[in-house]
Amino acid sequence: MFFKKKKISARRQHVRDNISAEKFTRLSGFINSPFPTALFILTLFIILVIAILALDTSDGQVFRPDAKFFKPYREVIALGTVVILVCLGAAIYINHYQNRIISRPTRLTALAGLFLILLVITKIGSLAPEWIFLATGSAVISAIILTIAYNQRFAIGITLFYCILASFAVGKIATVELFLTMMAGVVTCCFSLREIRTRMKIIEVTTMACVAVGITAAALGAIQGRDMRQISYSSGAAAAITIAVGLVIQGFLPIIEKVFGIATSMTLMDYSDANQPLLRKLAMEAPGTFSHSLFIGAIAEAAAEAIGANGLLARVGAYYHDIGKMNKPAYFVENQMGSASRHEQLSPAMSQLIIVGHVKDGVEIAREYALPTVLRQFIETHHGTTLVEYFYHEAVKKQDDKQSHVSESEFRYTGPKPRTKEAAIIMLSDAVESASRTLTELTPTKIEAIVHNMAMRRLQDGQFDECDLTLRELSRIEKSISITLAAHHHGRVAYPKAPDEPDEKDPLQKNNSPKPGPQ
Ligand SMILES: [Fe+2]
Ligand SMILES: [Fe+2]
Repeated sequence: MFFKKKKISARRQHVRDNISAEKFTRLSGFINSPFPTALFILTLFIILVIAILALDTSDGQVFRPDAKFFKPYREVIALGTVVILVCLGAAIYINHYQNRIISRPTRLTALAGLFLILLVITKIGSLAPEWIFLATGSAVISAIILTIAYNQRFAIGITLFYCILASFAVGKIATVELFLTMMAGVVTCCFSLREIRTRMKIIEVTTMACVAVGITAAALGAIQGRDMRQISYSSGAAAAITIAVGLVIQGFLPIIEKVFGIATSMTLMDYSDANQPLLRKLAMEAPGTFSHSLFIGAIAEAAAEAIGANGLLARVGAYYHDIGKMNKPAYFVENQMGSASRHEQLSPAMSQLIIVGHVKDGVEIAREYALPTVLRQFIETHHGTTLVEYFYHEAVKKQDDKQSHVSESEFRYTGPKPRTKEAAIIMLSDAVESASRTLTELTPTKIEAIVHNMAMRRLQDGQFDECDLTLRELSRIEKSISITLAAHHHGRVAYPKAPDEPDEKDPLQKNNSPKPGPQ
């Protein structure tokens, strides 16, 4: 029998080819995305969690000579199904509220590692009924660390998933009593721990959690009809472990900050001290850059607070954003102090290399001085991939004479673009401050116009593409920057003259248009 090959029209064939090409592009896009690594970590995590939960610790099993190591296989399969469902729920929650974790395998591994350690602690607690308080301690650890590393909402959500797993680690299905005691500690810690500005904060928070856990455990014990001795032991042990957790976390805080790449407000305050070696060096070697950084700090802090972002982080980030200028301070306009520009002797391409180089130099200095990663981002991203306009235009001017082509991409910073709201604020504050510095006659309206113009140029240039800044937030930032700048320049702001006032003309005030210069 012959099968006649169906004739396909050229248009249909073209559509088919396009579909398969699109499928291939999607597939290669998925392979190159961070999802395969995240899926691998999730699968490994699920396997290890099932292995931990499948260990049979009921009724002192492990202490018997004929002990079976794992639970019956039917129970393990059922347990595995529950673990997969809980972990998938947690993965969806992470993807929804902190999807940045998925693109960073180290953070994902740190998170998975933390939960595995906590589950092991809880499993040890399940060896004897008197040790059950360890489960409460592990939930409080999770709540505090996640609140410090991320935020309250994320900490409560993820710890809730952890508490479900911990309940299965304790017994076949742990009592509601244990779950409620754990949640009392978790909720108290998450809500009372907003930021750590003092050394006593964690102890204060865990003291509050200790009271909440103690009262909850005692009340639940009474409802169960236990005698006084049992109630005092269970509530006392749960309260004591909560306080102990606070002391341990206080001691491990620097390690937690390193592992999760974060800096608590306490650390940030330490770095904002002018006696920090790096800031002292900046003040000595590049005094102009130092005062520029302090000013950007004031602008950025107010702008960050206006949109509910971390004002302290923005201020301290601003202090360090230009430390790379320390290597060649005299090449930057704020350190020239009226002397002739060094760039006059150089070609635009060479000047551009020096200007762009301050970002790379800054990152190297930050590494040398072990600056926290969270502060390093401001050095890397404060210019994003913007164009060094002044030298680009200089190069274009010279290009006509020599007939050589000047590419715009050669005169751009190498990036990356800002990834957080605070970094975007620093970028805008820095640009606005540089533009306003060149103006002599400033009015509040003129300041507003510069700020809006700079914000729109950065937005259209795609510099805010990688941070989740909304247009409403951008407009609030613009407003805040305008107010701070106007307040700072109030001595210089030009007010309408009185009709009888003589019309004095300062020769320096002839040109009022913002002139881009080497920043
Ligand atoms: Fe800079
Ligand atoms: Fe700057």
